[in-house]
Amino acid sequence: MGKKKIYVTRRILEPALSILSRKCQVTLNKKPCPPSREEISKNVAGKAGILCMLTDRIDAEVMDKAGSNLQVISSYSTGFEHIDVKEATARGIYVTYTADILAEATADLAFGLILACARNIVSADEYTRNKKWKIAWSPDLMLGYNVHGSTLGIIGLGRIGSAVARRARGFNMKVLYYNRKRNRQLESELRVTYAALDELLAQSDFVSIHTTLNSASNQLIDRTKLRLMKKTAFLINTARGQVVKEVDLVRALERNQIAGAGLDVFETEPLPRSNPLLKMKNVVLLPHIGSATYQTRSKMAEVAARNLLDVLVEKKEPNPKFLVNPEVKNLRPL
Ligand code: GLV
Repeated sequence: MGKKKIYVTRRILEPALSILSRKCQVTLNKKPCPPSREEISKNVAGKAGILCMLTDRIDAEVMDKAGSNLQVISSYSTGFEHIDVKEATARGIYVTYTADILAEATADLAFGLILACARNIVSADEYTRNKKWKIAWSPDLMLGYNVHGSTLGIIGLGRIGSAVARRARGFNMKVLYYNRKRNRQLESELRVTYAALDELLAQSDFVSIHTTLNSASNQLIDRTKLRLMKKTAFLINTARGQVVKEVDLVRALERNQIAGAGLDVFETEPLPRSNPLLKMKNVVLLPHIGSATYQTRSKMAEVAARNLLDVLVEKKEPNPKFLVNPEVKNLRPL
């Protein structure tokens, strides 16, 4: 039997691509940008596997274009809202992701944003670099807020939220969390306290969002929720832009209703040039780089490749922690 045909929507770090090329016939989008809808439709035709990114919408139409050979959609991401999982499951298509792998790197970045916001790290760099630093030392230059000993509110105590909670312990922070489901075991393991969302927002000095995007979390943080936050508090988002109603956040920042925000994700990415956040001083803005470390991205590539090969070549079930739709195992046993 010939090699299985697969479509890889972006160049990913080695050795994953070489491994895939040895075992499969690879069609690769070599451009540095995501493939267009048309390119995806054209390139998935007749493929048995798709290795995609969070920027590629893989819905029923794309699955139709791929045809009945399609057995696996392996996403190089922890979010999977870009894939119609229900549709894939109904068709007996395995959907995998790289959850777990990027939790620690994303937690590092969330913590980086907490520190950057609280201690004016970005604006202080700009100040120094642009030769605005004229007096050797000043008692009130660039005053920020304590991170140590403050209260951190974590929305979504999954893998990333838990990794942030562990870091917070080193900073002697009090950690509150809100989750749709309360998890008493994690509470004692991580020494965190459950709080209703409104209470968490009212008490926290830093609110860090780590929920997946779903119907309940879409625009969860809006005007009414932002109003509950302290004037001295910061909102940190390394999850998905859509969890925050961005116009409401902009308004809250303009009115200094909260102290600031550290954002790695936005409602529209890349950030449109007209986005008012770009002109604001009380924000730190990053281009969706939560998992962007050499080690993590290369591990994600390896895991995404392995997940795809498990289904297509090894004919074995992917590691359960990477399988989004375990129900598929009954529909299409391998
Ligand atoms: C990043 O946002 C991811 O979902 O992998």
